[in-house]
Amino acid sequence: MAADLSPIDKAKFVAAKRAVGFVENGMKVGLGTGSTAAWMVRCLGERVREEGLKIVGVPTSTRTAELARAVGVKIVSLDEAKWLDITIDGADEVDQNLALIKGGGAALLQEKIVATASDQMIVIADAAKEVQQLGAFPLPIEVIPFGWQTTKALVEETLESLDVLAREVTVRMNGDRPLVTDESNYILDLHLRRIGNPRQMALILNQIPGVVENGLFIDICDILVIGHGDGRVTVRDINAGSETDDHIQFSPSDNIFSNLDD
Ligand code: 5RP
Repeated sequence: MAADLSPIDKAKFVAAKRAVGFVENGMKVGLGTGSTAAWMVRCLGERVREEGLKIVGVPTSTRTAELARAVGVKIVSLDEAKWLDITIDGADEVDQNLALIKGGGAALLQEKIVATASDQMIVIADAAKEVQQLGAFPLPIEVIPFGWQTTKALVEETLESLDVLAREVTVRMNGDRPLVTDESNYILDLHLRRIGNPRQMALILNQIPGVVENGLFIDICDILVIGHGDGRVTVRDINAGSETDDHIQFSPSDNIFSNLDD
């Protein structure tokens, strides 16, 4: 029930609830991955069931696809949809220019492909995700398993010439083995503490053989929806240069709060 939610979950929920207000009948919607995006999928499902909203969703992970099916959101592949009206997703960090670090949930590759194939990307987050400078959250990069230790060494060497505060690189584990992504790749986490030039870093990392994609999303996010634990929501639109405040009531149906496993 809403009353039992922690302030952080309330913040995620109200951001998600506000963001699904951007979705209109007939839209093709990119569905992000993570705990905040899971609220969004549940809120979309509620609109489908209660308002008869007609949309199709393109999920960015197998777990989002499962959740979308469970809450009644019809899903199609990106190849079927081809181009999307809107993508709504979470983020690990967002700066003043709406540059993002994503990939904490290991879904950055599909997330970046889907967001880039959308007219508009809306990011939903609690206020703790807003930062002055990116990099406190370890930057994930997706690498192919073949020769991954060589790729890791090349990444470490490349970091030597980049403006960062720390240079530790770790492979993300799932028990005693590297975590395998939906695209059958591995994730390296770059512990940098501060990224001086995110745009440059995003370009340079993708030049390294074996690196499939990095978790820096530059010039992709259009609108940031920040939620607070008391129901306040701030909507920042980078193209319009506007910022508006709103308030969301906690009055969703019971079933939106059941079986939370993301
Ligand atoms: C998954 C992501 C998520 O959007 C990001 O990790 C934020 O997750 P959460 O909403 O659970 O904090 O990029 O790859």
